[in-house]
Amino acid sequence: MRLWPRPRGAQNPLSPILLLVSQILSLFDLSLARGFHGIPGKYCSVRSPTCCENRDDECTAPILGDHLCYCDMFCDRGPHGGNDCCPDFYATCRGQADVPRALSGSECTLNGVRYYEGDEIKQNCESCICLYGVWKCDETACLIQPDILERINSGRYSWTGRNYSQFWGRTLADGIQYRLGTLFPERSVQNMNEIEIKTRDLPEHFDARQKWPGLIHPVLDQGDCGSSWTVSTTTISSDRLAIITDGKINAVLSPQHLLSCNQHRQRGCEGGYLDRAWWYIRKLGSGQGLTCPSGNNDSTAYKMTPPYRISSKEEDIMTEIITNGPVQATFIVHEDFFSYVSGVYQYSHLAESKGSRFTAEGYHSVRVIGWGIDYSTGRPIKYWLAANSWGENWGEQGFFRILRGENHCEFESFVIGAWGKGAKRRRRFKMRKLRRRMRKFF
Ligand SMILES: *[C@@H]1O[C@H](CO)[C@@H](O)[C@H](O)[C@H]1NC(C)=O
Ligand SMILES: *[C@@H]1O[C@H](CO)[C@@H](O)[C@H](O)[C@H]1NC(C)=O
Repeated sequence: MRLWPRPRGAQNPLSPILLLVSQILSLFDLSLARGFHGIPGKYCSVRSPTCCENRDDECTAPILGDHLCYCDMFCDRGPHGGNDCCPDFYATCRGQADVPRALSGSECTLNGVRYYEGDEIKQNCESCICLYGVWKCDETACLIQPDILERINSGRYSWTGRNYSQFWGRTLADGIQYRLGTLFPERSVQNMNEIEIKTRDLPEHFDARQKWPGLIHPVLDQGDCGSSWTVSTTTISSDRLAIITDGKINAVLSPQHLLSCNQHRQRGCEGGYLDRAWWYIRKLGSGQGLTCPSGNNDSTAYKMTPPYRISSKEEDIMTEIITNGPVQATFIVHEDFFSYVSGVYQYSHLAESKGSRFTAEGYHSVRVIGWGIDYSTGRPIKYWLAANSWGENWGEQGFFRILRGENHCEFESFVIGAWGKGAKRRRRFKMRKLRRRMRKFF
């Protein structure tokens, strides 16, 4: 039996007494089984030559009676490869000044738990390994960055953050890839016709749920699927169909249906274009089932008019919401947004000082249902009220508030609406009105 197998040349077996001694020792200190650390004496330092290049199976010194330790560069094969270096190898051959620490510190602790040399653990989203008594982590940027969270919650910010268990342990790259999912609007959408809006007197606060009770649909959870393009489009369609029909059509249009059926030049759970999503609902409609229509054959599908773009003037957006219902906004999500829990969100820029690796952004689309002014911090802050698609346990019961009037994170630069094709009379009336307003769009 060998306590320290070396996957090469033969090794002298330990004498039975020494074997017993070292086994007893190993009960007290398991790290012994990972090498000869901590055994006093001179080994490499009294050899000639003291140390050997590369792998040299002759480059040994006797230790523990008739056992051998090694002074070649092959003796330390990393955390998983084993270690049969002489105790003074690190001092003699590597010139490491911190030998005592390397020897005694071949264990690491975390939250009071002892780990041994070579042990690997996950800390948040990072992989860390215990090397020479200290944790070496791979420095992956995580979705929840505890230092940023701490600074936001203890600083003077207009919002607070939280450590969400569904985001803990995930990488920032995953968050951007799987929790957003709106591809940057192509020129066709950027050039989408803007409607002219005659602004009206607007209240200081507005919440579509109060004006249209029972007609504004609940917050959904897109899960690990970059599908905000389908969730925002279908929930806005559902809301607006219900509003335009006075609740006669109060259906939940299926985001799954749009996701599965609108595949042409879309990327499913890796994101999609809003103009194509709206085109699909306009032409083929959004059903509640999963059978994809072939051509225009599903007369039960709910359809919408062509989408239109609302100017980025905040009064225009507000007028559109209060008149016709929730709108779709596309904005840039930055790394700190994931941990938002309450208040009026504004990008903190805090991660930028840690290096560009810790910042990331992506486009996301959401349903805007109202606005208001927050006075809780002492100075009034204007905000938009929007439904996200990360479930009801995120943010303010699934909703969030974000700075209004400054095109913050591009929130106001790309706002879309569309009409529900519902009750016929109302629809014709609305369509006439819409045609007048949209002028040359048709
Ligand atoms: C965040 O939450 C997870 C579990 O939900 C927990 O394991 C972790 O320790 C928390 N992190 C911080 C910094 O509070
Ligand atoms: C439309 O056509 C597809 C493919 O032929 C079919 O599977 C689907 O059931 C049809 N839908 C309706 C509502 O007839």
